[in-house]
Amino acid sequence: MVTTGASAEEVEQAWADNKLAQVLYHDWEAQTYDEKWSISFDERCTTVVRDRFMHVLEATRRPDESLPYGRVLELGAGTGFFALNLKLAGLVDEVHVSDLSPGMVEAAKANAQRLGFEIDGRVADAEHLPYEDDSFDLVVGHAVIHHIPDVEAALREVVRVLRPGGRFVIAGEPTTIGHWYARHISRATWETATRVSRLPPFRSKWAREQAELDESSRAAALEAVVDLHTFDPAELAAKARRAGADHVGTATEELTAAFAGWPIRTFEYAVAEDALGFGWAKFAYGSWRRLMRVDAVLGRVVPQRFFYNVGVTGTKPLR
Ligand SMILES: C[S@@+](CC[C@H](N)C(=O)[O-])C[C@H]1O[C@@H](n2cnc3c(N)ncnc32)[C@H](O)[C@@H]1O
Repeated sequence: MVTTGASAEEVEQAWADNKLAQVLYHDWEAQTYDEKWSISFDERCTTVVRDRFMHVLEATRRPDESLPYGRVLELGAGTGFFALNLKLAGLVDEVHVSDLSPGMVEAAKANAQRLGFEIDGRVADAEHLPYEDDSFDLVVGHAVIHHIPDVEAALREVVRVLRPGGRFVIAGEPTTIGHWYARHISRATWETATRVSRLPPFRSKWAREQAELDESSRAAALEAVVDLHTFDPAELAAKARRAGADHVGTATEELTAAFAGWPIRTFEYAVAEDALGFGWAKFAYGSWRRLMRVDAVLGRVVPQRFFYNVGVTGTKPLR
């Protein structure tokens, strides 16, 4: 936790207060988040975000539901990956981002400014949203609800701030089975890659500095503190219904893509930064996209709970 720049006192409190841990961790992560996750605001990420959003939306989209959505709120927006790329894709109009971490809200606003977008950004806890009832046409979230202690309370807030008939799309959450295999595959890749890259024939080109490896291990340990949940798709849908949503549906993604993607990503962290060039990045992204297409076909026969990512969508009942 030394790497976060938080005071020793804050670190001590963070073990007892998970929300404080979330703020400290994500404020620290905000500085390098886009680089760490290869986030960009261009054709590559716009395509990923549009496909992911549409995949979840189509689970229960009504024939009369037209795009783009007008007033849109993102929960736990981080640096704006989802909402800003949705805006670039032309799927949303007026963007409001919120996040528990002030550092993330600042990063999202800075990214929006670079893109020439005017957005509203607020520091907000998804369990207690500082927005009026019935005020958004769409609420989105990406890779966020697994960090929230009371997921059902956050979903109730989502329903409260939506206008009657409004829609929510929450995507990119880990399934319970997917998280299990991703963790095991990543651990095995990390052990193998860090050991092999230190052997004499590879060391000069491939080995990462020990200090960098130690920092990656500390970050992984912190991630275990802030990652609170994994989801069974059917149970996630039940939570959304209990929170008051209608037309609830779930959609899953990444099966073979996760089996390839996790070792690739872990390998990238485990070896020296300049050992892998543009050709590798092209190969890694191209392979992941091709496997995503395979997974779209597998999705017709393989049960949802075996995929890595789950999304949930639904609407606020019309009064
Ligand atoms: C894994 S990041 C995802 C960020 C972004 N949505 C993305 O996909 O790149 C999770 C985000 O959720 C935020 N977060 C954690 N707990 C939260 C809460 N209770 N309310 C709102 N945001 C929260 C974190 O600060 C962080 O920015």
